[in-house]
Amino acid sequence: MAKFIDELKRTHTCGQLRAEHVNQDVVLFGWVQSRRDHGGCIFIDLRDRDGITQVVFDPATDFPEADRCRSEWVIGVRGKVRDRGAKPDGTSLHNPRLATGAVEVVASEIEIFNKAQTPPFLIEDDIDTGEDKRLEYRYLDLRRPQLQRNLMLRSRLNHTTRSYFHENGFIEVETPFLVKYTPGGARNFLVPSRLYPGSCYALAESPQVYKQMLMVAGYDRYYQIVRCFRDEDLRIDRQPEFTQIDVEMSFIDQDDLFTMLEGLVFRLWKEGLGVDLRERYPDGKFPRLRFEESMRRFGNDKPDLRFGLEHVELTQLVVEHGGGGVPLLEPLAKKFASGEYRVELPKEIVKAIRVPAEHTLSRKDTDDLEKLCKQMGAGGLARAKVGAEGEWTQSPFAKTITSELRDAINAACDAQSGDLLLFQFGAEAKVQTVMANLRLHLGKKLGLIPDVGTDADWNFLWVVEPPLFEANDDGTWAAAHHVFTRPHDEDVDKLGTDPGLVKCYRYDLVLNGFEIAGGSIRLHQPEVQKKVFEVIGLSEEEAREKFGFFLDALTYGAPPHGGIAFGMDRVAMLACQTESIRDVIAFPKTQRANDQLTGAPTRVDPKQLAELHVKAIEPPK
Ligand code: AMO
Repeated sequence: MAKFIDELKRTHTCGQLRAEHVNQDVVLFGWVQSRRDHGGCIFIDLRDRDGITQVVFDPATDFPEADRCRSEWVIGVRGKVRDRGAKPDGTSLHNPRLATGAVEVVASEIEIFNKAQTPPFLIEDDIDTGEDKRLEYRYLDLRRPQLQRNLMLRSRLNHTTRSYFHENGFIEVETPFLVKYTPGGARNFLVPSRLYPGSCYALAESPQVYKQMLMVAGYDRYYQIVRCFRDEDLRIDRQPEFTQIDVEMSFIDQDDLFTMLEGLVFRLWKEGLGVDLRERYPDGKFPRLRFEESMRRFGNDKPDLRFGLEHVELTQLVVEHGGGGVPLLEPLAKKFASGEYRVELPKEIVKAIRVPAEHTLSRKDTDDLEKLCKQMGAGGLARAKVGAEGEWTQSPFAKTITSELRDAINAACDAQSGDLLLFQFGAEAKVQTVMANLRLHLGKKLGLIPDVGTDADWNFLWVVEPPLFEANDDGTWAAAHHVFTRPHDEDVDKLGTDPGLVKCYRYDLVLNGFEIAGGSIRLHQPEVQKKVFEVIGLSEEEAREKFGFFLDALTYGAPPHGGIAFGMDRVAMLACQTESIRDVIAFPKTQRANDQLTGAPTRVDPKQLAELHVKAIEPPK
């Protein structure tokens, strides 16, 4: 008998056979998805990453191996393809749910390559096994068709990315993971050095300084699909190690960069998903929204534009009406009137969301919304139900508010009878965060955002022109992104006088409410760089100590340059229409940053620590 693998080579995958293969001799390899004994006839569903094929052993007595087979055993089968035919009453035996469902393979030989323990969960989609268990046995979880489809799509996206950049004259360069620690940005993982007692490498949070130095070195167009490491609090779209499509270009402006990156996204969607984004964006461009407008209308810089419920900015109205008789709003209005707060950079704001009458929210619903707001740090959630004459009920403001302010707010919100107005007021950052999350929560609750997996509404948006600095609580300034971001030329004068109003060439690409990429045009002029350091209170000495090597590099003929990085895991997560970034990463970490499969991080022998000149300090019990 011919030997499987050595002599009998695989002829097809388990997802390939169709009616046209009937009567062909085939050899298939795979895992036993299921085995059924139908009175002397054994059916095995054989699975590989490509699909499932039904194999028939008829009569079973000739195939004792087939009788022994159990789920997840690994076998090879030789046989002839035949049409599944019909029952005696004429009903077809074809299985329309399987791509190979028109045919089956009538086995003539079988070999069991390996047995398998009974897996702790079924290898199929839509199982309700807890994620921890699935991650512990990730190699089994990864056999599920959904995860295999995700990783195959991700592989196609990587392939398309490489082709696209190659065609456009980019050079793929690898940069170090073990780097010098530089402050700012995300918290770094540190790697103690064995050779240099007390010194550490940092794991690169991104190749930022290296890609800029490649521009100084004249490489002109760089890209890399690169792993980055950040020791941050994890969320549904964050992992401690994640992958960026990292890009840098010389002699370009923001528009040039956008054009190049839009080209990439159009290609990814076309080749990865078969979606032609030109149907939605005929000129090949994604819309742009200024950061300030994004904050005003949506409360954050990654708005989900698939639904409305936009914020209504009411601060000015409240100020103009001196608080309008509402004790809770009067202090804020006074601070503007006295000049303590500036209109351009308000420290406190008032915002509303109008929930149209067609969405009925019960008392319990609104109480739950208030609870949610409180969990986010808000004092509460003021509301007002709008009556037929514009009057307000069920509102803490209703008793005292002047009819002028009430009418003005109704008009600003375009409030109609039966609508519900939801208000937040207070510290700017908190109001924005609470209102942004409230909008999203309402969008989901009211069914305005399609469930993940049911939707192909690809809503892209560039968010542009954010401020270069953000204010610290003590009134000093910090760089809002990184310190090498180029300010708008017309704002450079304000660096010395009004840093909060300086806008910069920083941009994010947003898809359906997720930030999928971010970057900037870089600051390549040392004089302006110096001014930026001054604003954030970084002395020349400190700057040199922190990034002297990089500042030096910029003085040796740095070309004008800029770049961007895509969060590849997020792109894949959205493209695969799944809810968790872990569904597109083969071996992800949990939300608690550990690896359920290997147990990492693990304690190491004190001897190993000693070699690294490190001593563990036990946390207090
Ligand atoms: P930024 O920090 O904005 O920019 O990161 C770029 C993109 O990477 C993704 N991302 C993450 N994805 C998963 N898990 C994480 N922990 C995580 N953190 C970030 C996001 C984000 O938009 N060097 C700059 C880029 C540049 O300026 O060119 C940078 O890293 O999708």
